[in-house]
Amino acid sequence: MQKAKIGLIGLAVMGANLARNLANNNIQTLVFNRTAAKTEQFMRDFGSNPCLQAAYSMEELVQNLERPRKIIMMIQAGPAVDAMLDTLTPLLESGDIVIDGGNSYFEDTRRRSAKLAELGMEFVGMGVSGGEEGALNGPSLMPGCSRKAYVQLEPMLQAISAKAGESGKEPCVTYIGTDGAGHYVKMVHNGIEYADMQLIADVYTIMRQVLGLEPEEMAKVWDEWNKGELSSYLVEITANILKKKDAETGKAMVDVILDVAKQKGTGRWTSMSALELGVATPTITEAVFARNMSVYKEERIALEKVYADLPEALEAAACCRKAAFTEEEKAQMLEDLRNTLYAAKICAYAQGFNLLGTASETYGWDLQMDKISKIWRNGCIIRARFLDDVSDSFAKQAGMKNLLFSDFFAEALKKARAGWGRVVALAAERGVSVVALSSALSYFDAYRTANGNANMLQAQRDYFGAHTYQRVDKEGSFHREWTE
Ligand code: ATR
Repeated sequence: MQKAKIGLIGLAVMGANLARNLANNNIQTLVFNRTAAKTEQFMRDFGSNPCLQAAYSMEELVQNLERPRKIIMMIQAGPAVDAMLDTLTPLLESGDIVIDGGNSYFEDTRRRSAKLAELGMEFVGMGVSGGEEGALNGPSLMPGCSRKAYVQLEPMLQAISAKAGESGKEPCVTYIGTDGAGHYVKMVHNGIEYADMQLIADVYTIMRQVLGLEPEEMAKVWDEWNKGELSSYLVEITANILKKKDAETGKAMVDVILDVAKQKGTGRWTSMSALELGVATPTITEAVFARNMSVYKEERIALEKVYADLPEALEAAACCRKAAFTEEEKAQMLEDLRNTLYAAKICAYAQGFNLLGTASETYGWDLQMDKISKIWRNGCIIRARFLDDVSDSFAKQAGMKNLLFSDFFAEALKKARAGWGRVVALAAERGVSVVALSSALSYFDAYRTANGNANMLQAQRDYFGAHTYQRVDKEGSFHREWTE
């Protein structure tokens, strides 16, 4: 057997597609799957590609790779990865490189990196974004490892990654940082994705519940928005979704889909990390809560009846019957919504990058925000024109503490603020929940306020617990006897 350049373990959809991507780029790839039937099927389907070959035992896999060996695991995150490493590492040698391309928790990746380092081996925790299609045609790749390992992998990763930029040739992969950095950045990418999706869902709700637009009318608006600053994969698919009809009932597809959302946990991990590191990520976290809330379907049905006689509920119901707005008012509202979505999106990304900044300091990763935003420009779900501007802002304003300081985005936020307030106020008036849009607005308003309300919190803390406070007019810690 010809020695392969890389071994790939795990032939579920992501693994199979990544193996095909490697082979399509003329990289000799040796595949292995725990269940041999899957390997046999894979070879029947794709084995005509001369760059694909199969191994049916771990020994066979390890013996037929060029040295230092490079093996990418695309298996279920969690205990399976540890079990696989336990089997694999006794067969490997010092200098070999093991890549975990699954959605592993970054703390697990840090632990595994340390363990393999003790054995003289390199461990790479690599975020792979873009779903099945990305894995096959070019994902965004976020490798966390030593620089030494990255240099050895770079040509291969560049070949299989998505491409972006004006030339269409800039690979969507860069060195992220050591140990868990790659999986952490992928996790936050997913957290941002939760927020991005919820912002779109909120805007859709207003279009539907407040403006009373039909799905086809909405689709036209989203198509139009996709030509401007909101141009992105998620906006594009939103327009496409709204155009689709259900074959069985003839209704719009969105209207036959149950409003209960699933989640695999990366949004929750992002929020948990933010809480642990003391970073404000309200829009990301509200997006996770919104999915949790969606699960209370039975209670929501019951409570809608309990509160059916609220004036706000009646008003919203009237709007659904298209009673309410003139064409001019509708056009104004749609313009407000467009600006609102853009502004709220800026805030969601600001939160994500803030979290990355704090994590970078905490874990010693030296994350480069301009480079990270660049590799998200293609191959992944949050790909968007907007990321070019994010990257430019971080590059131009070195050391920027938060995206809200960006000169470029400050202009957009100033322009959007009035309409954003009208949108959120209208939703509140009509009793329509828009958690992501409103939390992003509160984030913006809180962040741009020099004198907030934590003075009251500090007074209360000192009152009931003698926790002390600082003063605005002199240095030091103070306590007073409040009940004197
Ligand atoms: P998907 O959700 O797309 O099915 P996944 O659950 O992330 O993907 O990964 C499934 C892959 O992990 C499969 O290749 C599976 O191997 P089998 O086909 O034999 O089930 C692999 N996998 C899961 N647990 C494993 C373990 N303990 N050792 C080796 N491979 C494992």
